[in-house]
Amino acid sequence: MKLQLRPYQADDFETLYQMDQVCYERGIAYSRRTLREFLGMPGAATWVALAGADVAGFLIALCDASQGHIVTLDVAPTERRRGVGSALVAKAEREMAATGVRVVELETAVDNAPAILFWQKHGYRAAGIYRRYYRNRTDAFWMVKTL
Ligand SMILES: CC(C)(COP(=O)(O)OP(=O)(O)OC[C@H]1O[C@@H](n2cnc3c(N)ncnc32)[C@H](O)[C@@H]1OP(=O)(O)O)[C@@H](O)C(=O)NCCC(=O)NCCS
Repeated sequence: MKLQLRPYQADDFETLYQMDQVCYERGIAYSRRTLREFLGMPGAATWVALAGADVAGFLIALCDASQGHIVTLDVAPTERRRGVGSALVAKAEREMAATGVRVVELETAVDNAPAILFWQKHGYRAAGIYRRYYRNRTDAFWMVKTL
């Protein structure tokens, strides 16, 4: 099925919240309040991937001058390994580069092997570790890519 990417709309909120609950374990998944805060931050840009009429995934990025930050990337379990995550990252990187971003960073849990492989495939490299980064005290890799 053809994948479409479009900006976030307010009525996507509950779908994105529920998807985040499925994508991340307790202690890492966002509360509604935190998700709302990220979506509304200055410099925030959110893209939603649609497979037909269904939301297949989404990505939130924050831009601040030459620095970009991928806040979260979520792909519905049934839509994985079909290029949805890659399409969202490519879109985010293109849009960020167009606004002057040169370096993109993100955090991912040190025990999230699929995500680490995914980010490495997209050129992100571990540049450090944040100890007990998540509410459940899991450490995070700080990963960085120069566009
Ligand atoms: C990580 C995640 C975003 C990947 O999304 P996706 O749409 O399945 O990724 P893609 O289909 O674009 O995969 C691109 C490549 O990444 C790598 N990859 C993705 N998932 C992988 C997995 N489970 N195991 C190993 N490599 C994987 C592969 O190299 C893959 O290419 P291939 O399928 O040709 O082998 C998705 O698994 C997800 O939402 N996980 C839960 C939330 C999460 O961990 N988000 C990222 C942390 S911020």
